[in-house]
Amino acid sequence: MKLFIDDANIEAIKRLCDLYPIDGVTTNPSILSKQNRNPEEVLKEIREIIGEDGILFAQAIPTDAEGMVKDAEAIVRVLGKNTVVKIPCIPEGFKAIRILKQKGIPTCGTVVYTPMQAYLAAKAGASYVAPYVNRIDNMGYDGIYVTKQIHDILVNNHMDCGVLAASFKNSQQVLELCEYGVYSSTCAPDVIDGFVKNLAIDGAVNDFISDFNKLGQDKTMKDYFE
Ligand code: E4P
Repeated sequence: MKLFIDDANIEAIKRLCDLYPIDGVTTNPSILSKQNRNPEEVLKEIREIIGEDGILFAQAIPTDAEGMVKDAEAIVRVLGKNTVVKIPCIPEGFKAIRILKQKGIPTCGTVVYTPMQAYLAAKAGASYVAPYVNRIDNMGYDGIYVTKQIHDILVNNHMDCGVLAASFKNSQQVLELCEYGVYSSTCAPDVIDGFVKNLAIDGAVNDFISDFNKLGQDKTMKDYFE
């Protein structure tokens, strides 16, 4: 499963990319607005951090196909290769995805709450489809189940499109989809940190250090291997 950071905070992205094997960064208009800065500047800084091989997602703002296509062209012109344009899965969005496919601009069908939205986006030519796990849960449905349904639809219909599972509140939700083999997930920084945030892990590491210190205070392997 590919793992993306769902955030636009530069310091958080730098820290997470330094520590973890991250495949790229996803943003949406709400995430960008939280930075209270020019979105082009923010996205260019993110591109610098993740490099040209990192995958960067930015969303088109208009709700008509023509406007979405214009936004998409501007986004990829500035952010370069390995940039994916998120297009909301509304009727005009499917039209925009088809046009962008013909132009060779990769897209992610986003704002996915139903499996058939994902099916239409994939059929129109999207490279990714993004179901909102936690938001679906909050509506009283099962976001994990819907995401698994979407994964199965893509696999069983041999569609050239992968799930980008989004909107998580905890690592258990991500784990279930990782186990199921979904193509990718995008998580807020606190959810990624939660993968390894555990007192038992910290305790085990501290025990190793204090035991080793009995051989010689604050020594590491290199002190003995000289
Ligand atoms: C990703 O495509 C979505 O924009 C994002 O993950 C939504 O997350 P939220 O429900 O935490 O806002």
